[in-house]
Order: sequence, then structure tokens, then C-alpha cells
Amino acid sequence: MNSPVFFFVASLIVSCSYASHVQDFCVADYAAPKSPVGYACKDPAKVTVDDFIHSGLGVPSNTSNVFKFGFSAAFAFNYSGINGLGVSLGRADVEVGGVVPIHAHPGATELVVVAEGSNIIGGFIASNSKVYQKPLTKGDTMVLPQGLYHFFVNQGNTPAVIYAAFSSESPTVQLMDTSLFKNDLSSDIVAKTTLLDLAQVQKLKKLFGGTN
Ligand SMILES: *[C@@H]1O[C@H](CO)[C@@H](O)[C@H](O)[C@H]1NC(C)=O
Ligand SMILES: *[C@@H]1O[C@H](CO)[C@@H](O)[C@H](O)[C@H]1NC(C)=O
Repeated sequence: MNSPVFFFVASLIVSCSYASHVQDFCVADYAAPKSPVGYACKDPAKVTVDDFIHSGLGVPSNTSNVFKFGFSAAFAFNYSGINGLGVSLGRADVEVGGVVPIHAHPGATELVVVAEGSNIIGGFIASNSKVYQKPLTKGDTMVLPQGLYHFFVNQGNTPAVIYAAFSSESPTVQLMDTSLFKNDLSSDIVAKTTLLDLAQVQKLKKLFGGTN
């Protein structure tokens, strides 16, 4: 079998066996330097089952703020096993009368399930400005398409607990209020570009800690 065909087949087998060295997972190595594409992979020999388990989402998050809303994250920065897998989870708590303020995740679709509560308005706004909203109750899920503004309003009589899964292990968030009022973009420009009254802009800048 000393033929060119044999060598071709043999080299295919060798390259296939190299391909099977692709890792099952890339548990984040927080001790190693982070690269622009994310965390380095922990040595698989040092990975344990605990890397794949995150505890803490059973505890309500702190809702002492103007929105009466709290959020706890199980994202790649504190859930090593989720790194590289393109999914993550969070828990939102919304007091009676509280809201999840309008925000968007530029790089992630979100899938929520209401674990506690009722009459929680869930909604998102499409890029053509059409609003999709409905009261949700315990057991309901709603999907919020990637990049679109969305919100929740707890109009029920009990606190709401909403679990949110994301199609990214490190979802980013752009909160409309903090984008406009929690930085040094001048109040004048915010007023001119949104048509809001300058006095209202200055009031919200003060509330959110913005300057200028
Ligand atoms: C909740 O957050 C508020 C405002 O940031 C803070 O003052 C308070 O100490 C926090 N409560 C707990 C239990 O961490
Ligand atoms: C993960 O990060 C969130 C948000 O900063 C924090 O509340 C939580 O305690 C962290 N969990 C762990 C296990 O580090």
C-alpha cells in the first residue's frame, strides 16, 4: 500500500485526529490576561463541576432606587463555565409600582420568564416604532429581539421576579436614561437633539448624576 492514495488517506486520518482536539468548553481563566476576544481558557485539567454552577440568583436583588428595580447577573465575568458558550442568565426584581427602565442589548436577544408576579406589562419597540406589549403573569415567557428597546412595568399587587436569558455570555446594555442623563454630554445638546425642555434635562441630569 505504498501508493499516493495511501498517503492521501493516511494524511486525512491524521488531520481528522487533530480536529478532534477541539475543546468541549473554554472555562474563563480570570487570572490570565483578558484579550480583545475575551477570557483565556482555563487548563481543562483544572476545570471542576463548580465552574459550571453559579449560585446566588435565588436571592432578590437590591431594588432601593428610583425605578424600584434590581438586577443580578450570571454573566461570563462571574460565571467562568459560561464563557464562550453564547448564553447567560440574570434575575430582575421589580417592586410593586416599579419598572425595568427602557433599555436595549445591542448584541443579544433576551428571553424572559416571569417566576413571580402578575400584571407585569412587558414590551418592546421595533425599529419602525411599533410597540409590542402585553401584561404578563407567572409562567409567561417573552422574547425581546436583539438590539430593540424594551421595558417592564409591574402593575400587579405583588413584587415581580423575572429571569432573563441572553444569547451572549457578556451582554451589554444601553439604558436610555443613563445614556442621556448620566454623562457629560451637554444639557443643551440633549435638549436640542431630543426636543425635551432644558429644565427637564437638567433635572434628570441631577437625578442620574450627569454633568454639563
Ligand atoms: C441597596 O442599595 C442602596 C442604594 O445603592 C444602598 O444604600 C443599600 O445599602 C443597599 N442595600 C443592601 C441590603 O445592600
Ligand atoms: C456576579 O455579578 C453580579 C453583578 O455584579 C453580583 O451581584 C453577583 O454577586 C456576582 N456573583 C458572583 C458569584 O460573583
